[in-house]
Amino acid sequence: MYPPPITVRTPEASYPIYIHEGALGQLRQWLDTAAIAGKLAIISNPDLAVLYGQRLAAELGATLVLMPEGEQAKNLDTVRELYSQLIGAGLDRRGAVIALGGGVIGDTAGFVAATYLRGIAFVQAPTSLLAMVDASVGGKVGVDIPEGKNLIGAFKQPACVVIDPLVLDSLPTAEWRAGAAEVLKAGLIRAPQLLDAALYQQGQRGAAFLRQAVQIKADVVEADPYEANIRAYLNLGHTFGHAIERVSGYTWRHGDAVAVGLVAAARLSARLGYCPEALAAEVETVVAAVGLPTRCPHYDPAAIYAAMATDKKRVDSDIRFVLLRAAGEPFLQGGIAKDEVLAVLAGLC
Ligand SMILES: NC(=O)c1ccc[n+]([C@@H]2O[C@H](COP(=O)([O-])OP(=O)(O)OC[C@H]3O[C@@H](n4cnc5c(N)ncnc54)[C@H](O)[C@@H]3O)[C@@H](O)[C@H]2O)c1
Ligand SMILES: [Zn+2]
Repeated sequence: MYPPPITVRTPEASYPIYIHEGALGQLRQWLDTAAIAGKLAIISNPDLAVLYGQRLAAELGATLVLMPEGEQAKNLDTVRELYSQLIGAGLDRRGAVIALGGGVIGDTAGFVAATYLRGIAFVQAPTSLLAMVDASVGGKVGVDIPEGKNLIGAFKQPACVVIDPLVLDSLPTAEWRAGAAEVLKAGLIRAPQLLDAALYQQGQRGAAFLRQAVQIKADVVEADPYEANIRAYLNLGHTFGHAIERVSGYTWRHGDAVAVGLVAAARLSARLGYCPEALAAEVETVVAAVGLPTRCPHYDPAAIYAAMATDKKRVDSDIRFVLLRAAGEPFLQGGIAKDEVLAVLAGLC
């Protein structure tokens, strides 16, 4: 028997997250449960097509549609190209898009599904650890434009999410670690027991921690689907992290930047007296033990601060940080003096 799916309830609909080894091989069953009977298009990339996509397309009688690998392909040119391919494959409004890949494919294919013929059914089949624990759950989809990352998008809830830990065997180690950074974030928000580096040995396929991390993301988006309040906690480490990514010209992997961001957020919390120094030290120790960076050497603290201050997604000029009172106790705090933030960055750059 398989473990029961995790259910996510949103204002529009509820959807199941199937999460067990072999779940991908049962995709037809999950599509039937979701009452998806029309034509299917699997959106993936060339490497993942060879690993998993071709076989899945043959099993489902689906059209396999490829987009290039990498964040630089998460753009409107790719979206336009995908629309043409869906038209070519004859997908009508009863059809469905299946995203088979990491967060880049999930975000792009989800945006296509949200807008093609004013929206058709969408299934997430995440293959990277990061996409499993973060990007595939919650309904945020979208693409980058030259002015910034993720500035164009929509909320598109999937009909279901299918997480098969077996595919993690082929995930490159650096990508595995990047996903682990998001699991550590989830642990700091809600589940201190996840702050244990021993959990993140690749090859374990994540079993227990994977389900816990997905459940945390599901709980948070269920409580706050449109990010009115507590969903913002998922940005722990991301205010610093996004800025590091930007200053690096996106040569830094998102998860690596988030790892440094977690250390920075914990240090800022301690510096401002919200949590003990010991928590900041613990965060740093576990991040390092997982093999993730704890520093961003050679970058200028002032440049990182400037990147935070000009984040295009922010509502007002004040930077609001997710800080910690303890592991499992995040809160939002604005009005933090620039010098305090610069001091933390100076210790990390
Ligand atoms: N929508 C959201 O809520 C949300 C949340 C977090 C991140 N994101 C987005 O997710 C993206 C990052 O996702 P990512 O880290 O998965 O990066 P990615 O999609 O670029 O995948 C990383 C690399 O791993 C490869 N890969 C994926 N699964 C594999 C497997 N099983 N075997 C072998 N190779 C595999 C991919 O082909 C790619 O080369 C970013 O664009 C980010 O903005 C979205
Ligand atoms: Zn993230």
